[in-house]
Amino acid sequence: MNSLASFAETLAPDQGEGEDPGASRQFPLMPEGEAYDMGHAPDGTPLFDPRIFDSAEFFRNPYPYYRILRDHYPVYHDKLHNCYYVTRYDDITHCYFDDEGFNTIPKGSSSGVLGNTQLELSGVEHRRRRNLYGQHLVGKSLENRVPAIRRLAVEMIETWDGINDDQIIIDRDGSRTVELGRAFANEFPIRVVCEVLGFPKEAQADFYYWYNSMMSGLGASDTHKQGLEARQHLEDYVEGIVEARRKEPTYLYDEAGNPISKDIISKLCETKVDGDYLSTEEITSNIALVVGGGGETTRGAILNMWYLLLQHPDQFAAVCNDDNLWDSAFHETLRHSTPIGGQPRQNTFDVEMHGVHIPAGSLVNMVDFSANHDERIFRDPETFNMFREDLYNGKLLRSGYRKEGRCSHMAFGVGPHLCPGAWISHQEAVEGSRVLLSKLKNPRINVERMPKDIDGKKLRPIGLVSARELWIDYDLG
Ligand code: HEM
Repeated sequence: MNSLASFAETLAPDQGEGEDPGASRQFPLMPEGEAYDMGHAPDGTPLFDPRIFDSAEFFRNPYPYYRILRDHYPVYHDKLHNCYYVTRYDDITHCYFDDEGFNTIPKGSSSGVLGNTQLELSGVEHRRRRNLYGQHLVGKSLENRVPAIRRLAVEMIETWDGINDDQIIIDRDGSRTVELGRAFANEFPIRVVCEVLGFPKEAQADFYYWYNSMMSGLGASDTHKQGLEARQHLEDYVEGIVEARRKEPTYLYDEAGNPISKDIISKLCETKVDGDYLSTEEITSNIALVVGGGGETTRGAILNMWYLLLQHPDQFAAVCNDDNLWDSAFHETLRHSTPIGGQPRQNTFDVEMHGVHIPAGSLVNMVDFSANHDERIFRDPETFNMFREDLYNGKLLRSGYRKEGRCSHMAFGVGPHLCPGAWISHQEAVEGSRVLLSKLKNPRINVERMPKDIDGKKLRPIGLVSARELWIDYDLG
């Protein structure tokens, strides 16, 4: 997700479909899990060629290369891209907690599209900003929103009957094929966040459009202008709402129509910092960040989870038999195929790690992908196993969790920047999936319509970028 400066995606060679002729010629596509031999030093240490980072091979099969880095170059100086990679779980945890030593300033990748957000702040100013609304993304009033999340899922699925578009739904006698991304996962997280923030239902479609434009405007220059315009439209819209809520706050209601609490925008309008109310600009950029931060990530989590479960029929059967197992499936998905590759940091001082000198002001990439597959922490990390005993599945803590042989995954980060949307995205993925399961009878992957791996037969692995589409057949009636 570019909005949170996932360096992996900023380097993505257009989904790895051979758009990078130089790097692809250099690095042929390997069977999943096997690394291309980049040569060896006289002592037998495998060599590492940083051009691999730009190759299609790396995007579909990154894990054997990260293993080489973890084992032999835990802090790797990539002279080609002028940055450093930290790949072991323990080292990354250490850096994330050291918010002053490894600060978040280089995240200017949002290039003005998201506005001035807390992602780019460190230390006291970051804490101040985060506390303003991070508190509103968790807690009792949101727990009461779970039925609303379910309702939004039901409403989306109900529209499938009227869809006449063979890129989304194909009906046959007694069965249906659905592309779960376009029909559900792409838009569902935006609808939920829109509702939780307190925007009227009529705005949901506009929000989805603004969100898509802002996201595509983050990286590429040709769509940057469109992203800036979308943000302007969002800001104009939010400004009107903020003015109205300043005069008259509005409430979130439970399904029986009882008020639960003020909505998040109304709460933000009442918030004072050093005696001053938050400006509309401050409120808008936080809203842009929440909309941007929660969309692509949760979309990826939902699609990856269904893709992985349907490829592991025994685990899917277990979820069908026990509704509570969705939580484990969600966490194992985020460990196995996390939607965000990692986070960039900049070191404030000169540091020495694993014998590598990192001069102050360097770009240091924390590779969450690699931390989640660190065999020092997770046994047999390449295997998707929601019953694994070394993964912590409880409430996510900023301090992370490491006890009695169990550790939290790194998909939401740890430390001061731990994702404040973790709880909501968890509810979206789990509740949304429960609703999907109740509607989709006997779901199975439509292999024919799915992108294939190099043998032209097997399903393509998820790799570095979340599943883009997922075609599912299910029985009607
Ligand atoms: C599966 C879904 C999600 C994943 C994997 C994810 C991942 C992350 C990660 C790794 C960070 C830490 C960034 C850092 O260390 O610099 C982060 C921060 C953040 N996320 Fe999420 N996120 C998800 C969903 C959401 C949702 C649903 C929202 C909003 C409702 C959200 C809002 C944010 C915000 C505002 C930040 C910035 C926090 C800060 O800098 O203090 N995220 N997210």
